[in-house]
Amino acid sequence: MGTIKIHDLSFRYDGMSSNLFDKFSLNIDDSWKLGLIGRNGRGKTTFLRLLLGQLAYHGQISTNVAFTYFPQPVHDPSQMTATVLLNIAKMDSSELWRIQIEMDKLQLSDNVLERPFNTLSPGERTKALLAVMFSESGTFKLIDEPTNHLDVAARDVVADYLKGKTGFIVVSHDRYFIDQVIDHVLSIDREKIRLFDDNYETWQREFDKTNASEKVEKQHLQSEIKRLDVTANKIKQWAGNAEAKKSQLAYKYQGRVMMDKGFLGHKAAKIMKRSKNTLNRTEMAIDEKKTLLKNIDEMPQLTLNYQPPYQQHLM
Ligand SMILES: Nc1ncnc2c1ncn2[C@@H]1O[C@H](COP(=O)(O)OP(=O)(O)OP(=O)(O)O)[C@@H](O)[C@H]1O
Ligand SMILES: [Mg+2]
Repeated sequence: MGTIKIHDLSFRYDGMSSNLFDKFSLNIDDSWKLGLIGRNGRGKTTFLRLLLGQLAYHGQISTNVAFTYFPQPVHDPSQMTATVLLNIAKMDSSELWRIQIEMDKLQLSDNVLERPFNTLSPGERTKALLAVMFSESGTFKLIDEPTNHLDVAARDVVADYLKGKTGFIVVSHDRYFIDQVIDHVLSIDREKIRLFDDNYETWQREFDKTNASEKVEKQHLQSEIKRLDVTANKIKQWAGNAEAKKSQLAYKYQGRVMMDKGFLGHKAAKIMKRSKNTLNRTEMAIDEKKTLLKNIDEMPQLTLNYQPPYQQHLM
């Protein structure tokens, strides 16, 4: 059994102001059926390209596992499908049967082999490329959005097909599809990467639960900030009034009751100091609550009760 060990992986494309991956560590077992999820542009394809060694990164990715990627590039789509598929698999025609076995499981008719690849429908191309990928055993498959061109029936066929396979990462925005085929979820969301040891549905339930409790926490923080703002304003107003009174008193007593002026001045200064301290504390509390609120807005914390099989360092 092989492992893909990712340690302190950092990466950004040229011109990006912040890292797409920042000191990210994770161990992936090569028997996993891992669903990679996250909104558009979060870095899912980039993550697969990093595993393939196509991009220069900081940190380490160490593995004895060989990767293959879907969709494989087709250099000359005007060629016969059989030729295209054999080229991708680096097989000669005596091994075409290996691909045909997988095509059969994917309910793709043999007659597409004798047609130019560019005459296949997008759904047929998807199935053909998946068939090539799985005709090769012993590789870890990186499957990037296989559902894009599939109708509902074809999605079911591909889902059934993948259910029988192990050792892959699949990216899909189709929750129903992904939920049928995976046993781990890796979620890339708002710069946080999380691993969850179960299917998508369970992950989603946890996610919703966390979101709901964050919503309550957010409302609580917002009302606290409002209350503290009112307190801070009251203190400021009071302090302003006291300052005015102090100078009035000073003026009134100037030159006459020196002792009283000193006494009153001292008392006023003491009260002012106390109120200033209270104001500082209130303002600090407001800042603190605002920071907590910002954290909730920027990064929803997912409470994932994942028990790692290895020492996992999820950033
Ligand atoms: N070659 C590149 N040069 C610069 N920026 C890039 C490059 N490729 C991708 N990006 C940017 O990196 C970010 C991650 O892109 P990536 O394609 O990995 O996202 P994704 O999660 O696969 O999105 P999608 O769900 O849309 O496929 C995006 O902001 C994208 O614009
Ligand atoms: Mg992508």
